[in-house]
Order: sequence, then C-alpha cells, then structure tokens
Amino acid sequence: MNVLGIETSCDETAAAVVAEGRVVLSSAVFSQVVLHRPHGGVVPEIASRQHVEHLPRILDKALAQSGLEWTQLQAVAVTYGPGLASSLLVGLSAAKALALRLDIPLIGINHLEAHLYSVFLARDARSYESACPLLALIVSGGHTCLVRVDAPGQYRRLGQTIDDAAGEAFDKGAKLLGLEYPGGPVIDRIGALGDAACIAFPRTRVLMANFTGGLSPALCFSFSGLKTSLLYYLRDHPEAVHEPILQDVAAGYQEAIVDVLVRGAQRALKREKVQSLVVAGGVSLNRRLRARLLDMAASLNVSVLLPEPSYCADNAAMVAGLAGIGQGITGEACWSLDACPSLDIGG
Ligand code: KG4
Ligand code: ZN
Repeated sequence: MNVLGIETSCDETAAAVVAEGRVVLSSAVFSQVVLHRPHGGVVPEIASRQHVEHLPRILDKALAQSGLEWTQLQAVAVTYGPGLASSLLVGLSAAKALALRLDIPLIGINHLEAHLYSVFLARDARSYESACPLLALIVSGGHTCLVRVDAPGQYRRLGQTIDDAAGEAFDKGAKLLGLEYPGGPVIDRIGALGDAACIAFPRTRVLMANFTGGLSPALCFSFSGLKTSLLYYLRDHPEAVHEPILQDVAAGYQEAIVDVLVRGAQRALKREKVQSLVVAGGVSLNRRLRARLLDMAASLNVSVLLPEPSYCADNAAMVAGLAGIGQGITGEACWSLDACPSLDIGG
C-alpha cells in the first residue's frame, strides 16, 4: 500500500510517500526554524501561515520524488494531534480534501505514536511486532514520556515529565546562555567540547505522586529546577556565557538532562520485562544521550532502536509508515476528526 503522509503539528511542513509501512519512497520537509529563531521559539501564528503557504509545494515535491502518480496512492495519513491547533488544522484540512478528491481512505495518526514508529522506517529494520514488548522513551520539544508497548497500538504510559519536556529544557537553557533556537543541537555541539564534571547541575528526582497523575514518581521527570539553577549560576558567573567556560556549562547542563533521562529509562527497564528500548523524537538526535543509553541498555542486555537522523525530528514518513501497517483512525470516524492539540499516548 502506498500511503501519502502529512505532518504539520509544529514548525515543520512535511509530506512523504511510504510503501508497505517501511519503504520510504520520498520524504520532503520544510523547516520553518529560521523564521521562528528571532522570536526564541515557535510562534503559532507564523507556523500555521507557513504551513498554508508551503504545504502545496511540499506535497508536490513528495509525490514527484516518489516517482508515483496521484492515482497510485492508496491512502492519505495525517497527524491530528498533539501539537499546535492552528497548525494541525492546516494538515488535517488538506488531507481530508486530498483523500476526498482521490477517493481513497483518510487515516488519522497520533504524532507521538508516529515518533515511536520512526525506528522501524527502513527496508531492513526489524518489524514492529517482533520488537515488542518494548519500552519507548519519547523525547521531543513538547513531550517526554516512557511508554510500554506490548504490541503495535497497545500502549501503557509509565512515566512522563511533570513540567518541562527534555527538548524544552535544552531550548530554554540555550536561551539563557544566549545561544540560538533550537537549543538542543547547539548545546550538543558546544557541550561536546567541554568538561561535564566542571559544574554540577542538579538532577531532580520526582518523589511525590501528587504531580504524576497516578504514575510512579520514580519513572517521572522534572526539568524546570535545572533551568532555574542555570539562571542562578549565570547570575553569579556572568562570564560563563563566553567560551571557554560556556563549553563546560553546556556540557554540565546537557549531562544533567541526559542523566535524568537515562536513570528514568534504566529504572523502567529494570521493572518491565521488555526486549528493546526505542528512543524517538527530536532529542534522540543528541549524541551524548545516544551513547549513554546504548551503554546503559547493553549492561541490561536490552537492544536499543534509534531512528535514522532524518527521521528523529518531525517528518511525514513516520506518519505514512505507521498508517501503512494498519494503525490510526480510519473509516467514518476519520472524516469528522478534529485537531487534538493535547492528544496523549497510552494515558
Ligand atoms: O520531535 P521534534 O522535532 O519536535 C517536537 O515534536 O517537539 O523535537 C524538537 C526538539 C527541540 O526542543 C530541539 O532542541 C531538540 O528536539 N533537539 C535536540 C537535538 N536536536 C534537536 N536536543 C538535544 N540534542 C540535539 N542534538
Ligand atoms: Zn515531534
């Protein structure tokens, strides 16, 4: 089945064509990051306008690169949440119109489930079923959670952040350091040159169940205190925004985020009997996080599945791929589907 995927949940306008759920025939992404950078973060109004302007061109590009004709598509899959309401609506409306015009099924896809699926997007990747039961660590700009997956579509949320997402911690930290948006890639790069042991930033442990919505505090994360501690550190050491100290600060700050994520994943792996650890979302690009998770999982005899770099950040191949294996909302329910900005996974 050839599925056209559409993704407009945040600041990437993306379209892709994927065959049989795993063969990526094309994946076109227009990143709006340079437009949001002067504002230090994503501006919803700019994002939705950009989607309206660029989606037609990106759709044409994805189709042309796939080598297929419109008539060779068998379904249109689209992200309907979570994300920015006005941005989601652009993709959802376009997908409905296309599916109606082509007279093919429309499939609504959850963005977080799609991120998780991104590790299975390769001709030779193992199948989703065979990797289950698995533990997924989803780490992006808006979400940070640990999810147990017993089979495709069978999710159970084990833990989540009680305040900022990991990507948000990178972005806010970078802003305090005077670095550009998005902060994750910059801190990754600068931090690699520094000594993480020079400055000990706090690793917050969630101890009370009051804020975790019934989830085990040991599997929940908190990053807002870390950001505040960086703020105070910079107040007392204003010279730290300049190199070479900046490199040590970035390394120490990154290590605190990575430590908290690795420890949470480790606790979850020890509790749950799973065979694989999936790491997905924009923060899964982080080199230090990848290395630390690989070490930790090896010590527990668990295999780690990581997305290819081009499928870590938002893209439409993961959306089309997940739909291609029969997941998502289809049938009558799909035509009345509305954007769901706070859609969850396994909650
Ligand atoms: O998954 P994504 O593209 O969008 C959301 O669904 O949120 O993730 C974007 C996040 C941003 O916060 C960005 O700073 C972070 O991913 N990110 C990274 C790296 N590359 C992107 N964080 C840490 N290290 C990186 N190399
Ligand atoms: Zn995302």
